[in-house]
Amino acid sequence: MDDQVDKAQILVASNRGPVSFSVADDGSLAFRRGGGGLVSGLSSVAADIETLWVCAALSDADRKAVAAAPEGRLDQAGFDLGGARVRMLDIAPETFADAYTWVANSTLWFVHHMLYDTPNKPGFDATFRHQWENYRSYNAAFAEALVTGAGEGAKVAVQDYHLALVPRMVRGRRPDLRIAHFSHTPWAPPEYFRMLPTDVGRELLEGMLGADHLGFLSSRWADAFLECCARFLHAGVDRRARTVQFGGRIVKVGVHGLGADGAFLRERAEADDVAQRRGELRELVGDRKLIVRVDRTELSKNIVRGLAAYRELLATRPEWRGRVTHMAYAYPSRGDVPEYREYTAAVQRLAKEINEEFGTDDWTPLILEVNDDFPRSLASYQIADVLLVNPIRDGMNLVAKEGPVLSLEGCAVVLSTEAGAADDLGKNALLINPYDISETTEALHKGLTMPQEERRARCERMVEAATALPPQRWFTDQLRALG
Ligand code: F6P
Repeated sequence: MDDQVDKAQILVASNRGPVSFSVADDGSLAFRRGGGGLVSGLSSVAADIETLWVCAALSDADRKAVAAAPEGRLDQAGFDLGGARVRMLDIAPETFADAYTWVANSTLWFVHHMLYDTPNKPGFDATFRHQWENYRSYNAAFAEALVTGAGEGAKVAVQDYHLALVPRMVRGRRPDLRIAHFSHTPWAPPEYFRMLPTDVGRELLEGMLGADHLGFLSSRWADAFLECCARFLHAGVDRRARTVQFGGRIVKVGVHGLGADGAFLRERAEADDVAQRRGELRELVGDRKLIVRVDRTELSKNIVRGLAAYRELLATRPEWRGRVTHMAYAYPSRGDVPEYREYTAAVQRLAKEINEEFGTDDWTPLILEVNDDFPRSLASYQIADVLLVNPIRDGMNLVAKEGPVLSLEGCAVVLSTEAGAADDLGKNALLINPYDISETTEALHKGLTMPQEERRARCERMVEAATALPPQRWFTDQLRALG
C-alpha cells in the first residue's frame, strides 16, 4: 500500500515536544533534546516501529526550525530519538497563546489544581469564549496532523489537558485508529469542575471520551474523572471496573503511575558537571544540614508555604540557626500568566525577608536559585539531608521520586499527601498536609534529626517504590492498554 509509506504505527501528541531550538551566537539554529518519561519511552520502541511525535512550536526559534524543515518534519535535524520522527506544528501565535496560555494554563490547569481565588476568579466572559474557539482550532491542528500521519490501525497516545478535544476529533475522521489519552495532572472533583461553563465542561469530557483508553497517574484523579462523567454527562459509569459508557461506546479508564528513570538518572549523575556542582555545594554548605527543594515556580508547588515553614523552623527552634541551609530552586515557568509573575515575586520577597531576619555575616539561611541548572539539581539530590516536596495538588511529582534515587547517604522526604507520589512512597516519606505550615515545620525538624540508620532504611524503601514503574514501562503500558 503506497499510501502507507512513511505512515506511523505509533504516534504521540503533546504540546511540548521532545526537542526545542534556540538561535546560537552565529545565528544558526541549535537544538536541545528534552528529557522525561515520554522521550525515553518513545525512543525505546522507535527502532522497530515507525513512530511520529506531533508537538507545537513553542518559540520563534522553533518556528524558524519548522520553516526550514520539509513539511515541518524535523527528522533530518540529527537529534537522537531512536528513529522517531518529529512533526512540529507552527500554530498562529494568537491561536497558540489563547490555547496554551489562557485556556490550558490559566483555566484548565487552575481547575484541576484547584488554584482559583474564587471571590475574584474565574469569570468566563466573551474574551474567554474567543480563547475557547482558539483552543478548539489548536486541538484541530493536532488532530489533522495525527489523522494524516497515522497508518491503518495505528495507535495514538495523546497527552494532557492541552489536547483534551483531540481524541474525539481524531475518532470522527479515523475510526480505525486506537486512541489513548493520558492526563499528567490531577483531575478536578465535580464540585470544582462545575465552575467551568457547562458547555465547555461537557465538550472537554466528550472530547476525551473519544479515546479508547484514558490514563491517570493516581486512582484519586481517575475516580474524580468518572464522577464528572456521571454528573455532567449522565454517562453510565462503572466505578469498580472504571469504565464509562457514552455515545454507544465503552471507554476504559486506567491508573498508570509513573516512576523515576533510575538508570538514566544514575548514569547522568556520574558526569563531571554533576561532580563539580557537588563540590561547590559542599563547600557552600560546609558541615551544616541541607534542606533542598526543586520546582518550577508554579502556584501548585506551594513554595511560599514551604518557605514559611522554614522560617517557622528557624523562629521556633533557634538551635537550627547557623546549622542548616535551605537550597530552594524555583525555575521560571509560564511567565505569560500574570498569577505566575506575582507568585514569583512573592517567593523572592519572602526569601529576602528570611535572610534579613536570620542571616548573619557567615551564614545565609536560604539560597534561592531561579536559573535552571539540571546538573546542580542532581548534585543537590545527592547530598540533601531533607527533600521538601509540598504541593497543594500534583499529578505525580517526580522530584519526590528522583531525590531518593540519587541520594548518597539517604535523605528524608517531607511530602504532601496531595501529590500522586504519596500513593507510592507512602509512610516512608514524612507526609504532611500542604496547607499546615506548622506540621511542615515539624516534619522538617523530624527529617533533620532522624537517626541516620532510619533515614537510610526509609530512603532505600522509597527508591524501590520510586523505580518500580520506569517511564518505558509506563509508556508501553499505555500502548498495551489499547489492545
Ligand atoms: O505535567 C504537566 C505539564 O503541563 C506537562 O504537560 C508540561 O510539559 C509540564 O507540566 C511543564 O509545563 P509547561 O510545558 O507549560 O512548561
